[in-house]
Amino acid sequence: MKKETESLQIGHREQDHGHHHHERHGAKQPERFDPGKAALLDDPERFSYLPPAKILSLLNPPQNGIVVDFGTGTGTYAFELAKLRPDLNITALDEQEEMLARVKEKLEKNSNLKIYPLLVKTGALPKLDADRILALNVLHELGDEALQDIKQIIKSDGKILFVDWSSEIDRPVGPPRDHVYSIKEAAGRVKQFGFSIQKEERLQYHYALVCLAKP
Ligand SMILES: C[S@@+](CC[C@H](N)C(=O)[O-])C[C@H]1O[C@@H](n2cnc3c(N)ncnc32)[C@H](O)[C@@H]1O
Repeated sequence: MKKETESLQIGHREQDHGHHHHERHGAKQPERFDPGKAALLDDPERFSYLPPAKILSLLNPPQNGIVVDFGTGTGTYAFELAKLRPDLNITALDEQEEMLARVKEKLEKNSNLKIYPLLVKTGALPKLDADRILALNVLHELGDEALQDIKQIIKSDGKILFVDWSSEIDRPVGPPRDHVYSIKEAAGRVKQFGFSIQKEERLQYHYALVCLAKP
């Protein structure tokens, strides 16, 4: 467990330090996730403190709905959601090709699942018309432009579920507390972009915000 903490704490590209990406303006932690640490995202231990069934119940997608896993990484939760709800159409979206390569590898063994990998560039997302967006462990990495992207790809009555590490909890896993938000800071940040909060919850190490894409 300790090993994972240390690795996650250095889970961001060293060469990025000091050169914050322009498109990440406003992000609490503006460095890109290091694809070299991708295996950490596949640690099944995560399911003990972030149960996929809990994520699904907070997300509450409609039958046959379009779900976007925004910043899917290796697709861990996209696959769990698809297994629990095979009716869903899940776009597994990421800005890093190396991360999506892992999703594609997994899909080769599970080609029956309705998971669609999508490589995106911040500020230039296609029209997706999502019923639900899951943003898991990623809000602290999202700059202003990426939050605008989320607004662009959601249906007018769609919902966004932000779940991220809490800065208020002393945790044996996850990024350092000063790289992430408290539930109040997170709520304040998403409200600035015109999202309204329908539901707030505290999980073992995370906070969860269920949001509408309108005030
Ligand atoms: C910490 S990982 C979490 C992955 C996954 N959600 C999970 O919990 O297993 C964050 C991922 O979000 C991606 N990401 C960060 N900002 C993004 C953006 N603006 N657009 C698309 N992907 C982004 C990163 O490339 C990385 O793969």
